[in-house]
Amino acid sequence: MSKLIAVAGKGGTGKTTVAALVIRYLLKTKRTPIFAVDADPNYTLGEALGIEVEQTIGMMREEFIGERAEIPSGMSKEAVLDRQMHATLQEAKDVDLLVMGRQEGPGCYCYLNNVLRKFMDILAADYPFVVVDNEAGMEHLSRRNTRKIDLLLVVSDHSVKAARAAGRIVLLVEELKLEVGRRYLVLNRSPDNISKEVQAEIDRSGLDVLVKLPEDPEVQKADVVGTPLIDLPDDAPSIVSLGPALDPLF
Ligand SMILES: Nc1ncnc2c1ncn2[C@@H]1O[C@H](COP(=O)(O)OP(=O)(O)OP(=O)(O)O)[C@@H](O)[C@H]1O
Ligand SMILES: [Mg+2]
Repeated sequence: MSKLIAVAGKGGTGKTTVAALVIRYLLKTKRTPIFAVDADPNYTLGEALGIEVEQTIGMMREEFIGERAEIPSGMSKEAVLDRQMHATLQEAKDVDLLVMGRQEGPGCYCYLNNVLRKFMDILAADYPFVVVDNEAGMEHLSRRNTRKIDLLLVVSDHSVKAARAAGRIVLLVEELKLEVGRRYLVLNRSPDNISKEVQAEIDRSGLDVLVKLPEDPEVQKADVVGTPLIDLPDDAPSIVSLGPALDPLF
């Protein structure tokens, strides 16, 4: 059984950064292979992992719809989709990345999306660890409520708005009746002292703070130079903070 780790949170708070740092941790601690899913239509996890993204599920869906007439004889629609899904997977050492890309378009592709979701679950089951970088809206999580989330990391920065959004994600998870093993708040770009207003929102969310990640100059540097976060040095402040917080969870 694979362990599903989902990262969620308000836009711009550091979801992709946290997802990449969790993947880096899993790689370093030899918990591989990892199946990484970028569920944000504005995908950036590939860059954080140093994996070039050439194809997304969204692109593949559009191509499939365009070429539907050309399904080779003797092959089922499902078999073609399965083959194309494997071709969409970007493979790197110990981590394979699936990028969802644009979500459902204006048409109704319910059949197609259901088949794709089924294949994605089958694909994910082959990996001991699955890490999903969600879009701010949680659409991906809400659509795929069949699987259990073993670990939900809700990211917030040191702001009332983001901490409140974290609370709304908890409510959404409950509303959708998603089965969640453990859930924590990751307070990103956190100062040493949390303002009482932010603390009050965190308390209201009901989430325990797993870790306070500091503002990290190494993350900023990676941003400016365009190097993958996966290559951050071991002594980068965010890495130093996150490792010991994750250790007891695995
Ligand atoms: N701890 C940190 N220290 C310094 N910079 C950070 C830190 N965490 C995130 N950042 C920077 O903040 C910006 C937003 O982070 P990131 O892209 O991870 O957020 P996100 O929640 O995934 O955003 P989006 O909602 O757009 O997907 C990035 O430029 C990232 O490099
Ligand atoms: Mg992101």
